[in-house]
Amino acid sequence: MELGRRRNATTPTAIARALALPQEPFLFLRKWLRDPLSIAAVAPSSPALAAAMARAVPPGPGTVVELGGGTGAITRALLERGEAPVVVERDADFCALLTRRFPTCRVLKGDALALGALLAGAGVEPPVKAVISGLPLLSMPAAFQLRLLAQAFAVLEPGAPFVQFSYGLASPLKERVRRRLGLEAASIAHIWRNLPPARVWAFRRRDEVR
Ligand SMILES: C[S@@+](CC[C@H](N)C(=O)[O-])C[C@H]1O[C@@H](n2cnc3c(N)ncnc32)[C@H](O)[C@@H]1O
Repeated sequence: MELGRRRNATTPTAIARALALPQEPFLFLRKWLRDPLSIAAVAPSSPALAAAMARAVPPGPGTVVELGGGTGAITRALLERGEAPVVVERDADFCALLTRRFPTCRVLKGDALALGALLAGAGVEPPVKAVISGLPLLSMPAAFQLRLLAQAFAVLEPGAPFVQFSYGLASPLKERVRRRLGLEAASIAHIWRNLPPARVWAFRRRDEVR
């Protein structure tokens, strides 16, 4: 017991508590240390990046779906713009945190690669006016990207965007996936105030671009 207590005192959470530091970055960092490919960032999105993602949501009625909610940086920015998203997140701890922190949002625990089934199972009907993604799209193989984007565009209303941030200079969606789905890519913001700096991309079906 005593030993257990001493060991606990050195965990990132215990240190954060002792120093009265916010625990959220530590949870994020801990998750990244355990699964760097799935988390793909050492820190949550900055308020500037989250706000730029939220600004990409078209005005008017309709559902917003957020993928990879994490600790809720983008969820918060969406709420500040009056949008309560349906959040899809694979990690159980992040889901618990999101549910506690944002009681007006629906949090669906599951893999975004099964997006269609997750939304249908939760009774979320198309059309959806935007999909806002914090997923590590860049590191996904083309087959996974294709599966994800095909499901997203099956629920998105005509002309609606799939919005994604990425740390690289080039589009995070592979060229052949874009061609296969007939998508047009637009880099809509470049955010320096983020660790690391990031770009925001919007993808739309070419024949539906308004
Ligand atoms: C880079 S973090 C972004 C977190 C948050 N949106 C932000 O901007 O700070 C990626 C998030 O996607 C989640 N994730 C990764 N792969 C996923 C998948 N296939 N389905 C659902 N969530 C996934 C991770 O658990 C993590 O919360």
